[in-house]
Amino acid sequence: MGQTGGLFLSFEGIDGSGKSTQARLLAEALRANGREVVLTREPGGSPGAEEIRALVLQGDPDRWSAETEILLFTAARRDHLERTIRPALARGAVVICDRFADSTRMYQGLSRGDLRGVVDQLHDLMIGVEPDLTLLIDMDPEVGLSRAKGRQGVEERFEDFGADLQRKMRAGFLDLAREYADRFRVIDGARAPEAVAVDVRAVVDAALNARAV
Ligand code: ADP
Ligand code: TYD
Repeated sequence: MGQTGGLFLSFEGIDGSGKSTQARLLAEALRANGREVVLTREPGGSPGAEEIRALVLQGDPDRWSAETEILLFTAARRDHLERTIRPALARGAVVICDRFADSTRMYQGLSRGDLRGVVDQLHDLMIGVEPDLTLLIDMDPEVGLSRAKGRQGVEERFEDFGADLQRKMRAGFLDLAREYADRFRVIDGARAPEAVAVDVRAVVDAALNARAV
């Protein structure tokens, strides 16, 4: 989305890989350098999309069919894009998004049969943009799961489906990083948060310098 002026970054990875922690640390560091940063997340990131988040992440996990779930995540993304992401990029801000369309490609595209084609078709029709840079925080699913399980809450996250699905998601994300090699950077998440943050910062600084924004 470079033509818009700002820089659009996404964090991806399995549950508990440290995306939210890294997104927050990066936002703080860039703000300290005087940049406008919009730190946001999916599903959610706008009032309407946050309402859809509650619909997809709370209640009975079998509430929606796989196809309906794709529609709901994409509807949330469209609202987020219209209300939050596009306006921020137009102002020249750095947008840091905790998950974006790659999560739908993985969780809805791979977890309940092969629906990747449907996800991509709907994405092309209704979203049509990718982040400038996607940071994949890669790590062993067992570690991610134990970290994620430490959290309590009302949201039925996909981590509840267990280690097998997490392993499949990890492999899927690494495949995606090869498929979209131009925008993906893979970062080893199995280290102290500060060490991971140094690598994240190096990749983002390189992108900012290359674009001189
Ligand atoms: P995600 O957003 O990918 O699910 P979080 O950033 O919420 O991950 O981190 C999940 C849990 O693991 C949190 O309790 C967080 O404090 C902890 N955590 C995050 N990064 C690390 C790290 N590098 N090492 C150890 N624990 C971490
Ligand atoms: P998130 O809040 O990022 O959870 P976590 O911090 O545990 O990684 O995302 C909530 C859940 O939503 C997560 O299990 C992944 C799932 N999800 C999808 O299934 N599809 C999507 O398109 C997105 C954005 C998230």
